[in-house]
Amino acid sequence: MTSSSLDLETQLSDLKTNALSAIAQTSDLETLEQLRVQYLGKKGQLSQVLRGMGKLSAEERPRIGSLANEVKEAIQGAIEQRQENLQKSQLEAKLASETLDVTMPGVMRSLGQVHPLNGMIDKMLDIFVGLGYTVAEGYEVETDYYNFEALNTPQDHPARDMQDTFYLPDGNLLRTHTSSVQIRYMEQHEPPLRVIAPGRVYRRDTVDATHSAVFHQLELLAVEEGLRFTDLRGTIKEFLRQMFGDDLQVRFRASYFPFTEPSAEVDVQWQGKWLEVLGCGMVDPNVLKAVGYDPERYTGFAAGLGVERFAMVLHQMDDIRRLYNSDLRFLRQFI
Ligand code: DAH
Repeated sequence: MTSSSLDLETQLSDLKTNALSAIAQTSDLETLEQLRVQYLGKKGQLSQVLRGMGKLSAEERPRIGSLANEVKEAIQGAIEQRQENLQKSQLEAKLASETLDVTMPGVMRSLGQVHPLNGMIDKMLDIFVGLGYTVAEGYEVETDYYNFEALNTPQDHPARDMQDTFYLPDGNLLRTHTSSVQIRYMEQHEPPLRVIAPGRVYRRDTVDATHSAVFHQLELLAVEEGLRFTDLRGTIKEFLRQMFGDDLQVRFRASYFPFTEPSAEVDVQWQGKWLEVLGCGMVDPNVLKAVGYDPERYTGFAAGLGVERFAMVLHQMDDIRRLYNSDLRFLRQFI
């Protein structure tokens, strides 16, 4: 064995020892790549050592050559192994830092809910739509004509006293009832018709447990040939049955409205007494004339009901003002 082959052997084994310990100490992939270049690259340490092979004899060359190969494979194997480990621990660290705790309680967002008055209106509309009615709307600011005059209630009519309201400087007023929608709808349509019109109405009323200066009504109107009082009664009874079930006590009471003839009021039992919940009647021929219908050919029935009072009866509320106080502890009880 020549001195140069011994020399190469030592160099190779030192290189291997150094490389393996450097690789084992590496903690990131970038440094590992630098080590690969440093040891195995074209200009790396292994190539430099092998350059000394030219001095070796023909018998020594294969032995050193295969030794060099072994060293190369050992370093390459160590690098691959280390790379795999580093990648694996990198992935594990990433997974650990991004872990989602699916059992953690979520962020609660409180959901809004329908106000009991709107819920009541929705329920009423559902029932009447089921009976073939169409929903219509009018205006809260009305002219004297639509609110009174066309509804057979001229300037000097005593019935105006019961429906005193708020007047605007231009002579218009806040509507006292949804009956004005009857006129607006009939002006635009021809019979046969069945409409309901929900909306807000205003009265110069003293506020108490059953009265408010602003409240809601639902208007009902049907006009066609041959409609009779029994049709009105049947419709109202069916509506009340669907609202309250079969058990609620109901009474029809003869009454008076300028725009209906004959007229009736309907009361239901509330807190041990009768509470008026709606007015109704056969449309007065004068009203039909006001919109250009022939009262000899068509008859109609109409009704106007107080939404708040229905809500009070259905939910057994003791005071109408609770509906306007925005007290969520109260309002949340109803849907
Ligand atoms: N508009 C009346 C009121 O506010 C209620 C009413 C009664 C409406 C009889 C009607 C009706 O359509 O026919 O007191």
